[in-house]
Amino acid sequence: MEERIISTEISEFDERFEQSLRPQYLSQYIGQEKVKNNLDIFVKAAKMRKESLDHVLLYGPPGLGKTTLAAVIANEMEVNIRMTSGPAIERPGDLAAIVSSLEPGDVLFIDEIHRLNRSIEEVLYPAMEDFCLDIVVGKGPSARSVRLDLPPFTLIGATTRAGALSAPLRDRFGVLLRLDYYDNQALTEIVSRSATLFEAEIDHPSAGEIASRSRGTPRIANRLLKRVRDFAQVRGNGIISIDTAQEALELMQVDALGLDHIDHKLLLGMIERFKGKPVGLDTIAAIIGEESTTIEEVYEPYLLQIGFLQRTPRGRVVTKLAYDHFNYPYFEE
Ligand SMILES: Nc1ncnc2c1ncn2[C@@H]1O[C@H](COP(=O)(O)OP(=O)(O)OP(=O)(O)O)[C@@H](O)[C@H]1O
Ligand SMILES: [Mg+2]
Repeated sequence: MEERIISTEISEFDERFEQSLRPQYLSQYIGQEKVKNNLDIFVKAAKMRKESLDHVLLYGPPGLGKTTLAAVIANEMEVNIRMTSGPAIERPGDLAAIVSSLEPGDVLFIDEIHRLNRSIEEVLYPAMEDFCLDIVVGKGPSARSVRLDLPPFTLIGATTRAGALSAPLRDRFGVLLRLDYYDNQALTEIVSRSATLFEAEIDHPSAGEIASRSRGTPRIANRLLKRVRDFAQVRGNGIISIDTAQEALELMQVDALGLDHIDHKLLLGMIERFKGKPVGLDTIAAIIGEESTTIEEVYEPYLLQIGFLQRTPRGRVVTKLAYDHFNYPYFEE
């Protein structure tokens, strides 16, 4: 698959600088007001009772701050955090080793928790409910089950696909929090904050320009900011003005709404070849030379989100909004 600057997936390039941009406390975490207000209350209540925080499930699209928020929660609770992921826990023993090394109140963060295999989930249930593990030791006739008490801990699970989580696992979380795409104002604030941490000079309109092309996603905003800063450094005095920001973003082929050349190819292909008629997923896949599942999981969500595409029983339809964006006359079918 082609590399895209507006991809929500984390790249090696992101990993090197994302760490330094992560907010540490709720007060530094921008946007997601509802989630923050809820968490603030839960954290304060748990601390007053001197108890561990209820298990928390964070869900929402990639790059919106789930991993960041898990670390923030641990900081607010003043406990350690152990980070792992669904695919990394291969055998029940792996999970047992991790949970039995936790201190009372600690946070265990499991990323991509929908990818845990069933046998691990079974071990997790009593750990979440009663803070104990039932472990089978030995093999064959000499095998026996041993019950191991655990310190009370908080499981924070993160997933981009809450629907893929098994019901029994989902039901064991006391707190379910959904992260939403950020609005322009919050993203502008995130860009300004990151610029300060990068020691880059940027004014409000330029931060807003980057924000509005970031598809509601902090990960994309930070990546675009970094590229724009590099551009400003090479082309000028390093100060990011609205002109340098716009020029850099044009050069990256990210348009005013954060659409890139692949979005353009997809939408214009549908407009020019199908004149507003519904188009099947496989046909769209053929237009841009990708698998249908990739279209569904990667290319389409943002276009649906901003209302440029609509799903109908007869196929995908490009909406008037998209025609207007490209200055094409709109024909109702
Ligand atoms: N509310 C926020 N305020 C400021 N920066 C944020 C916020 N949320 C996320 N970020 C920034 O965006 C980056 C991506 O966030 P994070 O890695 O937490 O996303 P994620 O939801 O875990 O993504 P994935 O689904 O790919 O694991 C972080 O490095 C952080 O700097
Ligand atoms: Mg993450």
